[in-house]
Amino acid sequence: MEQMDQKIMKKLAAKAAVETLVKSGMKLGLGTGSTALPAVRHIALLLSAGNLRDILAVPTSFQTSIECEKLGIPLFTLNSREIGGRLDLTIDGADEVDSRGRCIKGGGGALLLEKIAAYASAAYAIVIDESKCNETLGLKFPVPVEVVPEARIPVTLALEALGAEVVLREAIRKAGPVITDHGNILLDIKFRDVVDPSALETEINRIPGVVENGFFTRLAPEVFIAHADGKVEHRKQDARR
Ligand code: 5RP
Repeated sequence: MEQMDQKIMKKLAAKAAVETLVKSGMKLGLGTGSTALPAVRHIALLLSAGNLRDILAVPTSFQTSIECEKLGIPLFTLNSREIGGRLDLTIDGADEVDSRGRCIKGGGGALLLEKIAAYASAAYAIVIDESKCNETLGLKFPVPVEVVPEARIPVTLALEALGAEVVLREAIRKAGPVITDHGNILLDIKFRDVVDPSALETEINRIPGVVENGFFTRLAPEVFIAHADGKVEHRKQDARR
């Protein structure tokens, strides 16, 4: 079979996850990014065809909210009475995933709500193309750390003391740093030596001024990986760590 382009692979993974896991009546967390959005669009398609009904959707970013508004998917928050703080399933993309289902997320800057939704979900699905599989998290793709703007320097020093190289994420069509959906800045960090992502997820969050970090290690996602031959691999993990 011909090799697929990455955009098509993302769509295939998203569609497979939706068709396998999404059922009528679910409270659904909707992720952010170029692989999560095709999942949102596929859900909208199934809803408009009448093949899915009564979905209560919670978006994880402005990007996803705007897409849902365009598609006519009614939106709730985790605090809405209809949702009651718990989701049945969240579907999201990732920047890197290891074979235990541990991820780096936040390339699109939406890690805060993405993590809140993920940890509030009974089931969690990650949709990726095969380029995102990596056994050593933290060396290649930077781990975003969302930080209160006033704490930029003390948090930078504390992250450097953990062995990280720290880069302030700069905006592209705005002067100065990226400001997240929650009014914070992002420090992108990388390590030179192999690290323990599970320990770092906790350790980074202990630094005063850190709001959240992009290691997602205590979940047991079902991972849908689209390969270049057009096949979608469905990996299940053991229970949450
Ligand atoms: C946004 C994210 C995205 O899920 C992650 O960056 C992957 O994005 P894409 O599917 O566009 O490659 O964590 O904060």
